[in-house]
Amino acid sequence: DTKITPDHIRSMKQRGEPIAALTTYDYPTTRLLDEAGIPLLLVGDSLGMVVLGLPDTTGVTLEDMEHHVRAAARARPRALLVADLPAHTYDTPEQALASARRLLDAGAEAVKAEGGRDILPQVRAIVQAGIPYLGHLGMLPQSVHIEGGYHIKGRTESERQRLLADAEALAGAGAFAIVLELVTPAVAAEITRHIPIPTIGIGSGPDCDGQILVTHDLMGLLPWVRLRHARPMAELGRLMTETARQWQQQLQHRAPRSSTPGGS
Ligand code: KIV
Ligand code: NA
Repeated sequence: DTKITPDHIRSMKQRGEPIAALTTYDYPTTRLLDEAGIPLLLVGDSLGMVVLGLPDTTGVTLEDMEHHVRAAARARPRALLVADLPAHTYDTPEQALASARRLLDAGAEAVKAEGGRDILPQVRAIVQAGIPYLGHLGMLPQSVHIEGGYHIKGRTESERQRLLADAEALAGAGAFAIVLELVTPAVAAEITRHIPIPTIGIGSGPDCDGQILVTHDLMGLLPWVRLRHARPMAELGRLMTETARQWQQQLQHRAPRSSTPGGS
């Protein structure tokens, strides 16, 4: 099958083909999700929470991302493999470009960062270097400490106008699509109608051009996490615990009654 490119993802909007996107952090998951035909796989900095056991994404380093991008890229997926630029690796245009190049060297085919007009010089530096860029607007997890929590965006008229202007600016700067996280469904729908590139929503209602989920949330791999959006479609976490329990039970049933040497 032919490799998925950023142009392919962009053209899915014109064809009205819903874009399904999932996160991946390792080699086997990338193979398994690619086998399902998912066209966009993101090595997200959600890595910090769902794989590394960190409280949020702000502690994820560029080295962490490179390590996991390398693992995912070894699966050579047909899917477009996108990687997140972690917090404070794109504070200036020069730093953004250097960081993006490191993720590409690790095997990513596109990069994503959080922000709109506030990071436009960084986005332009990346795009002008020929690196495909995925935008991310709405609730921005890397700003959780500044924002004092994870808040839904687009509830006020000023937030609505800001989101629309940021989305237009990212499209104008050459982003091939934009992730909308925790944007009110009405504003997400308005942005989707307004811009020529696809919107990929998470917790932003049904009217985006695509949807992205953290794979661990979709698969129920973190049964101790209570989700606001995205009900798990499977219970792989429970299945894993149950399989380990059953295996241990089998082992116990097969064990000799006494372990004393020569005893009976
Ligand atoms: O890091 C991540 O998983 C993401 C998606 C939720 C969009 O940025
Ligand atoms: Na992210």
